[in-house]
Amino acid sequence: MSSVDSFIGLPAGERIGIMKTELSFANLAGIETELLVVLAVDTQTEKSPDAKPQPELLTSDEAVKAAAAFVLASGEYKAGANETVLIHAPTGLAAKRLLVVGLGKKSKLASPAVRNGAGTAVRFAKPRGIRELVLALPDIAEYTARSARAVTEGAILADFDPDTYRSDRKDQSMKQFVLAAPQVAEDNAATAAIEAAFAEGIAIGESQNFTRSLVNEPGNKLTPTILGQRAAAMAKAVDLGWEVHSTEKLHELKMGAFWSVSQGSAEPPALIVLRYVPEGLPADHNGPVLGLVGKGITFDTGGISIKPSDNMEKMKYDMAGGAAMLGAMRAIALLKPRVPVIAIVCAAENMPDGKAYKPGDVVTAMSGKTIDVINTDAEGRLVLADGLTYAKQLGATHLIDAATLTGAIGVALGTHNSGVFSNDEDTFAKFQAAVAATGEKFWRMPLGEEYAEQIKSDIADIKNTGGRYGGASTAAEFLHVFAEDTPWIHLDIAGMAWIDDARPYIAKGPSGVAVRSILEWVRSY
Ligand code: BES
Ligand code: MN
Ligand code: ZN
Repeated sequence: MSSVDSFIGLPAGERIGIMKTELSFANLAGIETELLVVLAVDTQTEKSPDAKPQPELLTSDEAVKAAAAFVLASGEYKAGANETVLIHAPTGLAAKRLLVVGLGKKSKLASPAVRNGAGTAVRFAKPRGIRELVLALPDIAEYTARSARAVTEGAILADFDPDTYRSDRKDQSMKQFVLAAPQVAEDNAATAAIEAAFAEGIAIGESQNFTRSLVNEPGNKLTPTILGQRAAAMAKAVDLGWEVHSTEKLHELKMGAFWSVSQGSAEPPALIVLRYVPEGLPADHNGPVLGLVGKGITFDTGGISIKPSDNMEKMKYDMAGGAAMLGAMRAIALLKPRVPVIAIVCAAENMPDGKAYKPGDVVTAMSGKTIDVINTDAEGRLVLADGLTYAKQLGATHLIDAATLTGAIGVALGTHNSGVFSNDEDTFAKFQAAVAATGEKFWRMPLGEEYAEQIKSDIADIKNTGGRYGGASTAAEFLHVFAEDTPWIHLDIAGMAWIDDARPYIAKGPSGVAVRSILEWVRSY
């Protein structure tokens, strides 16, 4: 029905996903495919170790139920989260194989389990050379459209693999993903809701993969200039307004903080500005204008305060916050919320050099505030300081930033939650409500006078580090100085932007975290 190429926005020849997506309302039993996938839940409520597994398929299709009945009754399969069982040549079905994917306990069923289940199916297929699959949309009446979106996102996210530069790429892209929706032909509203949710799932999944493909790029292949070119190509493809500036504009705008980070690199900085204006927005619009600001350090050596070499290669993902903003803007352009949005990505490379900024330097930010540079490795907050000021100057009434800002957030929250900070209760409440639908996890961290105290300087208005303790909060207080009283959300995604170990439903590597949450927050206005 609808069919969209993946990875719009990447230069031709660099597309790493070619999976076509299609929605079908055909009868499951009759669908000819390499792999028919059906999701299942664990309905066993008894906790005793002797309790026999009680898996239940999330379909009302009798032929599929009959084909799986023997395996499900065996007691070998309990439909635990991402647990799979494969049936070859299933009786009574046109499909060559039937794959059952478990979602875990029925009582705890929610959209992350459904999203991950679809992802598990795709990642089951890929290494086996199965290049197309049909997934039966779970027909849970009140939840059908929402799960249509979740499974579509999950399938597209699972198709991504980071081995772009391997000559013998193992897990090539899927050719086709078909979502088989229950037959609701008589109910036009239900059909339309499923179609809309499916289209949303595609836009969101592909935008998150766009972010991941940027984050995955090595520093030599994705300089600030190239990040600017990628952003511009994407903006053209989805019809966003765009500008990419460099050194001269930084000087013109007096972005002394952003420039100080960039000045030690042979690669010029890029100030990327994308604009979304909703159709029919009146010229005298005086409602909210959302400002998205992303940290785009394409490689962070630490500068003169150089990092140890262990794990330094990971610092190619120090532009994940900026890439999240670009992915969110792509989805915004496709899904057309009612609110105008400006995105700013401050891209630079943080290098040690004869021209590099040094500890003890004092730099003047665009806002006029003076900054005492204690540590050149605390560079993210410097580029964001000027990005936040510029977003306000361009008219943003509400701000959100995303950054791989501190190692401290990873120490505090591990790899399971990102940190969220805010200076405004209403804005935070809106963010929290929006995030609920995405399956992404954020934990609120404190701002406060005491942390602000830690970044007072003897020589300038503030210093760029606050000592060993409370590092994520002192970094956030630094940004607060530039957001000032404008309602603002800060996302520290340092612990979440890169996945170290593969999961059944997603590859290891860049996660694309925060794209979905930023998008939903924007859509809530
Ligand atoms: N890019 C790093 C933060 C980071 C660490 C991201 C680990 C992803 C994984 C940031 O620029 C940085 O170096 N922060 C310093 C700040 C310190 C010098 C105050 C840190 O967290 O150690
Ligand atoms: Mn750093
Ligand atoms: Zn950094």
